[in-house]
Amino acid sequence: MQKSPASFSAKSKKQTSLPSCALVATSLLLLCACEGIQSSLMPRGPQARVIADISWIMFFGAAAILLLVMCLALYAIYRDPGKRLNPSSNKLIIAGGVLLPVVTLSALLAYTVYAMGTLRAQPEASSATRIEVVGNRWWWDVHYLNADGSKISTANEIRIPAGEPVMVMLKTRDVIHSFWVPNLAGKIDLIPGRTNHITLLADAPGMFRGQCAEFCGEQHARMAFHVIAEPPQTFAAWLQQQGNQAVEASGTEIKQGRDAFIQHNCASCHTVRGVGVADKYGPDLTHFGSRRFLAAGTLENNRANLIEFIAHSQRLKPGNRMPDFSHLEAGTLDALAAYLESLE
Ligand code: CUA
Repeated sequence: MQKSPASFSAKSKKQTSLPSCALVATSLLLLCACEGIQSSLMPRGPQARVIADISWIMFFGAAAILLLVMCLALYAIYRDPGKRLNPSSNKLIIAGGVLLPVVTLSALLAYTVYAMGTLRAQPEASSATRIEVVGNRWWWDVHYLNADGSKISTANEIRIPAGEPVMVMLKTRDVIHSFWVPNLAGKIDLIPGRTNHITLLADAPGMFRGQCAEFCGEQHARMAFHVIAEPPQTFAAWLQQQGNQAVEASGTEIKQGRDAFIQHNCASCHTVRGVGVADKYGPDLTHFGSRRFLAAGTLENNRANLIEFIAHSQRLKPGNRMPDFSHLEAGTLDALAAYLESLE
């Protein structure tokens, strides 16, 4: 039986409306995902604001041009041919194909070049806090450089004083990584053999998530970190506390954990100042208990996640340099976790 034109058009309408509904829903979901602590659409510092402005100008400019093209297409389709304006094709090509792109792209280029100038790191404008960040596969070494040349080390969590521009020096120990905190600034690569600079400035206290933005191996996606902006006095107190040696183990379980830490060679890769120094392979754990996340910003720092990571780090983050310690007894894993969590 032949389909009537009406039923055919009803069906085709149904076919196109389903995918477009899905598209709208997906777009809305994606837009919702832009909210929060890892979003360049929610700038929380002057550099990120410049970048967000460029993004919005490009978005609305592109939307206006799309609207114009759609209106012209509808005009061409639906306007009665007898009443339609018929400009010569030469005029259309010169206006729409040459003049319009030259004018809009030149304006955009001029604005972007001007905006890029404001994104450069400005050492002279920075506060006294100087931070060195070293990329490793797949975590971040963080050193606070003191005026006397000494440094205070931590990992995967960068605290900064809110309202003060902080100079961050970026290096890498292995391959190219890219340092990106979308709420605060643009991306900058960490390149073997050189030091790059970026200025981080947060308007107000808050926590932001950063992510390695250059493919660097199998755990690239799990090479994250957090930037925590704090009121300057809180930051100063935190930094002073981070400079201290690790707290002494107290209590049976915690002491047992410290002994296991030494006995099972954790101290060969991880520094715990006061217990052992080994700043070569793994993150400094001197004040591990004060960090909010573990495994380079990928898991919340709590006892259950920590035990799971020690026992099965190759399952949670395959390819990382820490072997599984699944052969340890449950009691030992418990004690190890208790000890590390006690290192506030
Ligand atoms: Cu480091 Cu991707």
